[in-house]
Amino acid sequence: MKLLEVTGLSVFYGDLQALFDIGVSVESGQTVALIGANGAGKTTFLKAVAGLLTSKRGNIVFDRQKIGGYAAERIAHLGMALVPEGRLLFQNMTIEENLIMGGYTGRKGYWTLAKIYDLFPSIASRGREMPFVLSGGEQQMVAIGRALMANPRLLLADEISQGLAPVVVDQIYKSFPAIRAEGTSIIIVEQEVKRAAAVSDYTYCLLKGRVTLAGRSEALGFDALSHAYFGT
Ligand SMILES: Nc1ncnc2c1ncn2[C@@H]1O[C@H](COP(=O)(O)OP(=O)(O)OP(=O)(O)O)[C@@H](O)[C@H]1O
Ligand SMILES: [Mg+2]
Repeated sequence: MKLLEVTGLSVFYGDLQALFDIGVSVESGQTVALIGANGAGKTTFLKAVAGLLTSKRGNIVFDRQKIGGYAAERIAHLGMALVPEGRLLFQNMTIEENLIMGGYTGRKGYWTLAKIYDLFPSIASRGREMPFVLSGGEQQMVAIGRALMANPRLLLADEISQGLAPVVVDQIYKSFPAIRAEGTSIIIVEQEVKRAAAVSDYTYCLLKGRVTLAGRSEALGFDALSHAYFGT
């Protein structure tokens, strides 16, 4: 079953058109990677799908509902959760309060505080601390945990490896099988192409607001990918 089907999506920031006629679909249970250089439009795509940008055209169908005109909060209640670029933790709240905030939709399911702490043991004993005391990797775990607390059907993860050491990134991606095991579909935005291909079933490449390549991740050839990514 198709969980998300985006067709003909165009997004505008005032006079600037950031996305042109984008088509992306995600099957239930699938992990889809969205790759592309700086400014390609990856974050814009995730924000538009999550209802955070209103200046847009096209169709967005999530779980058989046309959500293109819905506000972000309504979309969150339907089961979509965003791990935003740069994490955007609530800095004046404790780690545990951050996680609890993620559950504000009241959606029930597998993910609870205890399950998040099982998934990320390094934040388990630190619930009463403030986010700034954590390492970058641990902060990213809180950001992912906060999104999971909404028990999403679709998790949107924007550059979760940004600024982190490779061993830490490995640690974070190790949590993905457990997330998928609960039936959650995932869209990951990644700048590191190899890693994106390794963790996903399907890959889309964006260049200057357009999809330049789409295909099963295991079948992507280096030359085609490099052409799609850099446009050269
Ligand atoms: N709030 C905004 N106002 C105006 N233009 C914006 C805004 N946000 C993004 N843009 C522009 O839209 C285009 C796409 O940006 P976007 O942030 O979606 O790219 P990205 O692929 O996520 O890049 P990065 O890898 O740097 O995060 C860029 O040209 C960017 O300058
Ligand atoms: Mg971005």
